[in-house]
Amino acid sequence: MPTNVVVGMQWGDEGKGKVVDYLTRYADMVVRHQGGNNAGHTVVVGGKQTILHLIPSGILHGGKVCLIGNGTVVDPAVLIEELDALAAAGHHVEGRLYISLSAHVIMPYHKTIDKCQESLRGKNRIGTTGRGIGPAYADKADRFGIRIGDLLDAKRFEAKLADMLEYKNRILTRVFDAEPIAFDAVRDEYLGYAERLRPFGADTVAMLHEAIATGKRIVCEGAQGTMLDIDHGTFPYVTSSSTVAAGACSGAGIGATDIQRVIGIVKAYTTRVGEGPMVTELRDAIGERLRERGSEYGATTGRPRRCGWLDVVQLRRAARLNGATHFVVTKPDVLGGLDIIKICTAYEIDGQTTVEFPSQIAVLEHVRPVYEELPGWAEDISLCTRWEELPANAQAYFTRMEQLVGVPIAAISVGPGREQTIERFDPLA
Ligand code: GDP
Ligand code: IMO
Ligand code: MG
Repeated sequence: MPTNVVVGMQWGDEGKGKVVDYLTRYADMVVRHQGGNNAGHTVVVGGKQTILHLIPSGILHGGKVCLIGNGTVVDPAVLIEELDALAAAGHHVEGRLYISLSAHVIMPYHKTIDKCQESLRGKNRIGTTGRGIGPAYADKADRFGIRIGDLLDAKRFEAKLADMLEYKNRILTRVFDAEPIAFDAVRDEYLGYAERLRPFGADTVAMLHEAIATGKRIVCEGAQGTMLDIDHGTFPYVTSSSTVAAGACSGAGIGATDIQRVIGIVKAYTTRVGEGPMVTELRDAIGERLRERGSEYGATTGRPRRCGWLDVVQLRRAARLNGATHFVVTKPDVLGGLDIIKICTAYEIDGQTTVEFPSQIAVLEHVRPVYEELPGWAEDISLCTRWEELPANAQAYFTRMEQLVGVPIAAISVGPGREQTIERFDPLA
């Protein structure tokens, strides 16, 4: 039965939270399968905004089950803050939110090392969120990581923490000239978190397979975006996990053949936070206008997002990397009022034109965008509820995107609110 993966097609912040919340009406279970609280997923229901960093964006639908999968890295303090905020807003999550015992725990030294590494990189810094994501995934790959299952077993946790601090404190003091981390304080803090999180620990893989076997509809909620993927993104300006659809297989524990649909979320223009190449970036009044009208400031760090035109060369690469079966386009309302809207259809590299996205950033950094111009629309489309209500020029923009990329657009988001969604066909049907 249908398992659907929602994945960002650009550099993150495409509106995955909004779309996942919308799609949850058709689903029984929502799973976050990678990333950590570097993600900030915004959901707006009845005018009230909720920003989720770890808890799946389906959580505002009472009765739907939400899983935080094995492929994630969890900062327990942030998760508890999120639980508190949801409880304060009247959302009951007990008995329908579960965290994989195999998910890795973000420790205080991960956050310190993240920041130290960034300052060591100097002008080559990545512009990470500073949440300890890279160091936590590095410890996982190095097989030093502490998992939620370890955290929930006090004796095992204490032993692992003691070993890890001996090692990490050497790195902190000798490599980074930073303060060592005291064992007692971290032990007490984290064992406190363990008590709070104990009811949520579970074998989420088994739960997911039970759901699949009984015909439940599942949405896997990707974090970040394709171009931030550790393998396929603009390395080294990427995050440390598999953000492409395949990441849902390892990060949630499902087989490749379990996935029926891959829903690519495409912002109608391009944004990026942090460093790294972005071919269509606009450092002019139009870029500024997109940032202001689109409120393009990070949901996690508040940093201004870099803004630019839609890049179809990049998008085609992303569609292939993910096997996208559908697109949902977000934020076209932000483009309203522009006389001309540009789409990058090819790259010029040393006088040669290509439609292939270069795999090496040394090449990407020297690319010049080749643009096609389309007429804009003056109307405010944020109240449109049907395709037919959209201005002809907006329809033409979406149709051109479909032609150029070859992926059908199932739905169009015209505002942050749950109801501001134009469905062309049921994306999960
Ligand atoms: P995510 O990380 O992919 O979930 O995206 P973010 O939540 O970080 O950023 C998307 C921002 O755009 C949030 O502030 C959303 O509320 C907002 N948003 C989502 N869809 C739309 C839309 O169609 N139009 C407008 N104007 N805003 C949107
Ligand atoms: P959502 O899920 C946008 C970016 C950071 C930085 C790089 C590495 O909300 O779309 P990290 O802290 O992961 O080591 O940072 O990745 N980044 C994101 N950009 N949206 C996100 O998540 C991001 N998560 C990480 O800005 O450039
Ligand atoms: Mg975000």
